[in-house]
Amino acid sequence: MSASVLEADALAKHYPVAQGFLRAAAQLRALDGVSFRLSAGRTLAVVGESGCGKSTLARQVTMIETPSAGRLLVDGADVTAADATRRRALRRDVQMVFQNPFASLNPRKTIGQALEEPLAINTRLGRGERAERARTMLARVGLAPEHAARYPHMFSGGQRQRVAIARALMLAPKVVVADEPVSALDVSIQAQVLNLLMDLQQETGVAYLFISHNLAVVELIADEVLVMYLGKVVERAPAARLFAAPRHPYTRALLASTPRIDGRARPDRTPLAGELPSPLAPPSGCVFRTRCPHARPRCAEVVPALESVGGDQWVACIRKDEIG
Ligand SMILES: Nc1ncnc2c1ncn2[C@@H]1O[C@H](COP(=O)(O)OP(=O)(O)OP(=O)(O)O)[C@@H](O)[C@H]1O
Ligand SMILES: [Mg+2]
Repeated sequence: MSASVLEADALAKHYPVAQGFLRAAAQLRALDGVSFRLSAGRTLAVVGESGCGKSTLARQVTMIETPSAGRLLVDGADVTAADATRRRALRRDVQMVFQNPFASLNPRKTIGQALEEPLAINTRLGRGERAERARTMLARVGLAPEHAARYPHMFSGGQRQRVAIARALMLAPKVVVADEPVSALDVSIQAQVLNLLMDLQQETGVAYLFISHNLAVVELIADEVLVMYLGKVVERAPAARLFAAPRHPYTRALLASTPRIDGRARPDRTPLAGELPSPLAPPSGCVFRTRCPHARPRCAEVVPALESVGGDQWVACIRKDEIG
């Protein structure tokens, strides 16, 4: 197995939430012991309903926030133990593409300036060399060199997302974290941007942590999938396996709720019912049990561990063998 460019080991993030006058702040476990490894040139998708902790994971991995517990390694180097100087260096290796291409670009800077900025801050390259690299990168993301002189408002959403991707790649990072990178785009444009991401991965060997609530998109792009529920990983598997034979009841329900991109029907399963519990008061035992069609009294008592079911598929469910 190749070395990991990104490794999370029981990563956790707890946010203190005020509970009102004279009451102690509660801890919201937005991320609760998440582990994974990501190798160069691979795509790990993170899926799950709104509020399950996807963006919280992205903020820890990109070092925007500091985790409450656990370890994060970038290319083998422990970020959690690194001093400020080392962290700054490691930050270059993990870049981010956000959902909203309209908010992520400064309206007062030309596209060229936006692309050159990471080089100006992090390298000693001269002006001419920076401009040259920006033009080269524009071509690689399917834009024209003359676009460098234009401002963000002159571009469509899809073009802006190409610019955001170009900007993320300027420092040749090892990992790009993409948080819902195509969700704000027209469906017709989504496929183009996904294809671009896949082409760039082929060319550069960059690894993606790809966050999406859209399973049809994930099925297209992911090598491996992490399914999250209330801050925990409930299932992790190679993408082909997860879509063909999901094992956790939550994964099955999520799949049943999503049409396939090619319109083919999925095997008949019960879609998700009920409300997501408050993350401030998660259910005891298995956090999914309150919405699970297979729950038994024991599920309230035992916290299920993520266990192998073979084929590098991992499932956190004490009834996984009974429900098949
Ligand atoms: N700074 C914060 N302070 C307190 N709670 C937070 C903070 N950031 C996130 N949360 C809570 O943590 C949980 C996870 O949020 P997060 O934004 O990571 O979810 P998500 O999976 O990205 O959702 P979405 O699909 O809507 O983007 C939510 O319950 C959210 O309210
Ligand atoms: Mg989010």
